[in-house]
Amino acid sequence: MLLPDPALVVLVGASGSGKSTWASSRYRPAEVVSSDLLRGVVGSGEHDLDATVDAFALLEQVVSARVGRGLTTVVDTLGTDVVRRRRWLAAARTAGLPAVAVVLETPAAVCRSRNAARERPVPARVLTSQLASVAATADLLEAEGWQVVRVTPDEPTPDPPEPGGTARRPEFADPLIRSGLHGVVLQLSRFPADGDLLAWLRDMAAAAEEAGLAGIALMDHLIQIPQVGRAWDPIPEPWVTLGALAASSTRLQLGTLVTPVTFRAPGITAKAAATLSALTGGRAFVGVGAGWWEREHAAYALGFPSARARLDALEQSIETMRALWAPGTKPYAGQRVSLPETTSYPRPVGDLPLIVGGGGDRTLRIAARLGDGCNVPSDEVGLAKVERYLAMVREGGRDPSTVHATVLDLPLVGRDRDDVWSRVERHRGRAPAATFAARHHAGTATEHAVRLAGLAERGVTTAFIAPVGLDVPDDVLALAPLATAFG
Ligand code: UTP
Ligand code: MG
Repeated sequence: MLLPDPALVVLVGASGSGKSTWASSRYRPAEVVSSDLLRGVVGSGEHDLDATVDAFALLEQVVSARVGRGLTTVVDTLGTDVVRRRRWLAAARTAGLPAVAVVLETPAAVCRSRNAARERPVPARVLTSQLASVAATADLLEAEGWQVVRVTPDEPTPDPPEPGGTARRPEFADPLIRSGLHGVVLQLSRFPADGDLLAWLRDMAAAAEEAGLAGIALMDHLIQIPQVGRAWDPIPEPWVTLGALAASSTRLQLGTLVTPVTFRAPGITAKAAATLSALTGGRAFVGVGAGWWEREHAAYALGFPSARARLDALEQSIETMRALWAPGTKPYAGQRVSLPETTSYPRPVGDLPLIVGGGGDRTLRIAARLGDGCNVPSDEVGLAKVERYLAMVREGGRDPSTVHATVLDLPLVGRDRDDVWSRVERHRGRAPAATFAARHHAGTATEHAVRLAGLAERGVTTAFIAPVGLDVPDDVLALAPLATAFG
């Protein structure tokens, strides 16, 4: 069982039941607010009962402030005070945080012997009365509205499942596994400003292979986008860069996510993608989209027509590319495009998946009708679009097992809970920490693997991931546990 996170977690247990031990093995010190520790802050030590009133006043303030910010808060007290519990629960409800009561069901005899072994034991009759009120409290918690978790010494709260271990594969996964663009693909969006770009690309590709990732995707932008960096940060031309990656890797799928149809005539993109397919022996894909950032078009003297005209161009582009990739050289007369001949060599090797990026309704329809896949954000809104996309594919009489339902995911990945939260602090800018952490699903690689396996169960076949703060090969190697999330 996985505890929700972020959450308000209230511990309930007698002295010596193991509350503080349980909390410190799972949470960072700043996430745990303990009446004992606060007695030591405002009084002479953890056992300074004269400091209890002051300690609890501080505790209430800490709980209210943290919970109000949507931050995980573990309350380490006996947990038997119903008035306080109600107040904490109300605060959690207001903040939209799950409220969990963790009951330490350590046998009385164990608590007694641990207590007796302590330097300053609680008097025996006090412990007896604590044990009675903990038992009484445990019966009330569910009715009060807590999600109750019971912890016994024999049955420690299980750790998250091993990535891939329990995740079911989507029923229709097999053909996609054969096509190669299946699983977790790393999107590179930040590049070193100085130093050897080629060497960096080679090292990143080697690390992606070693981590077991399915491929590398590059953004196609002319100026670094504000979501990723500053306008003067480098963003190399993707097709040239993919050529360099092709020379550095023997296994990775390589392509763009996504190429705006406003940048190049569609035949030129078709040529670049077919060349990449030939260079890699069939490991290329091409993401296409309508384009959205007016500034880069103006700066490079490119037209930026209306959204409707750009979506028309998206349809024409897909049709043109497919015509040029088809066997032979014969003339092509399609719905939107006519070509006097379709002479284009080298031709792609095997499949060359065409992934249509964007979540607008017309874009999804284009993806379902003309593309080989869609690409939408990995949030709930995006997942609803995946579902709609797959329904459109079915309605169009196509087999969903032949398409790629892909998402773009921006995970923040840390080595452990401490590292996760120091990365949140480093990268959150002015965003509140809880908001930033939620947007990026801040967690360890194992936690992300479990989450991605959940996406696979909802029909997603490929996650393009652009991890927050990914700079060096070690950051890529740390993604290894995610690689098997899609089976
Ligand atoms: P804790 O200090 O964690 O208990 O463990 P607690 O519930 O927070 O107690 P109070 O309310 O603050 O007094 C008590 C002792 O039991 C040991 C710990 O090392 C500590 O010495 N312990 C705890 C174990 O040996 N095994 C466990 O699983 C948990
Ligand atoms: Mg304690």
